[in-house]
Formats: sequence, structure tokens, C-alpha cells
Amino acid sequence: MKIIICKTYDEMSSAAAKLVAEQLNEKPTSVLGLATGSTPEGMYAELIEMYRNNAVSFAQATSVNLDEYYPIEPTNDQSYRYFMNTKLFDHVNIDKEKTFVPNGMANDPDTEGIRYEALIERLGGVDLQILGIGRNGHIGFNEPADRLIPGTHVTALTAGTIEANSRFFASEADVPRMALTMGIGSILKAKKIVLMAAGAEKKEAVMRMLEGFIDTNCPASLLNLHPDVTLICTKDAINA
Ligand code: GLP
Repeated sequence: MKIIICKTYDEMSSAAAKLVAEQLNEKPTSVLGLATGSTPEGMYAELIEMYRNNAVSFAQATSVNLDEYYPIEPTNDQSYRYFMNTKLFDHVNIDKEKTFVPNGMANDPDTEGIRYEALIERLGGVDLQILGIGRNGHIGFNEPADRLIPGTHVTALTAGTIEANSRFFASEADVPRMALTMGIGSILKAKKIVLMAAGAEKKEAVMRMLEGFIDTNCPASLLNLHPDVTLICTKDAINA
């Protein structure tokens, strides 16, 4: 795993945005795997800035998002579809028809998982996958467990994740209890992966991942199986 340690959150955001821009400049038709959460927000702001300065174009790009709450309306301001529209898509020249997020209103979430996995395959797979990391080592919504599901699937959120994400909702009771997420197998199929981590509260998870073992109780540790992962983190998120 390559490691880039940044002094500040802003520096981390710029470094990650630079990698996304390089990917798009090299291959304008790239399929970007995108993540939500507070960690990549600065990267999206930086990409909007770069787009305004003609340093990057999304005109031919496609995006597939990692995960979405279930059930949730796309118009709910806590949905990941709403996040992506407001934090990136509405401000750059991406074709919205080519931006995909798991359908939080699907009648049957199991069928939605299968549909989404097939969609990623039909698109030719993800060229560059952006990831955040949960305090418990989750990636996407693949929570620590003795067994992990490889493909996109519906999953129950852990109490810790519900609590961590409740800061975005009116109350903890409003956080959906389920989510649709790409599986670890879907994530590992990406050609390149960039994992972003900021803040001391991520250090334990980051260090566990960096031990180099494969441990389904730290889902991020499965990234050790992938040949092209870059960790971009702030210095307080790692023992440097
Ligand atoms: C959320 C998301 C993840 C995200 C993680 C960290 O639950 N499902 O995709 O990476 O938790 O979020 P944050 O960046 O806000 O710390």
C-alpha cells in the first residue's frame, strides 16, 4: 500500500483531487467509484475548483457510488444521492444520466444488489475507487463480521455506525437501520483504490489495516489483497 501523509485536511483533499484529475486527464471515459461521508467533501470542493479552472473535465466520465442508506428517498437531504448531487454533480459537467447510486427505494433490496453489481460489470468495472474508512474499519457499509458478502448487497448497520452517522440526522432514531453497499469483492475489482482518512478517531482503524493481515473484523484490511491502493491521510490518522 502506498501511503501519502498530509499535514492538514485541506492538503489531503488536494492530494486526492489531484489523483482523480490525473485519472480523468489520462482516461476521460473513466468509471469513478465515489464515496460519501465527511472525509471526501473537501476533495469534491477541490475538484469543483479544478473544473472551474479547466484543469479537469467530467464530460465523458461515469460514476458509481459505493453505498446508499435503505430505505431512503433520493430527495432526502441525508441520502447519498442528494449528497453527490449537491457536493459534486450539480457543479461539474458530468452527465447525471451517467451517475449511479444504489437505489434506496428499491422494492426488493436483494434484487437491487444484484442489479447494481451487474451494472458495474456492464460499465467495464471501476477505474478508480475512492474510499473513506469507518472508525471500526468498515469500508462502504461493509461492517466488521466473521463473514463478509463479496458483491453489492443489503446490510444492517452496526450500533456504532448508526451513532457515528447520527450527527448528520435530526436524531439517532432517524438514521436508517439498513444500507445497500458494494461488497468487498466489488471494491477489490477496481483497478486502483484511494482510501482517505482524516482525524485521530480514524487512527485505530488505519493502523489495524496497515498491520497487513486479512481480518474480516476489520473490513479495510482486505485492501491488503489489492495491488494498487493508495492511503492518503492526515498525520493524526496514522502513527508516522
Ligand atoms: C460511512 C460511509 C462510508 C464512510 C464512512 C466514514 O458510514 N458509509 O462510506 O467512508 O462511514 O465516514 P466519514 O468520512 O464521515 O468519517
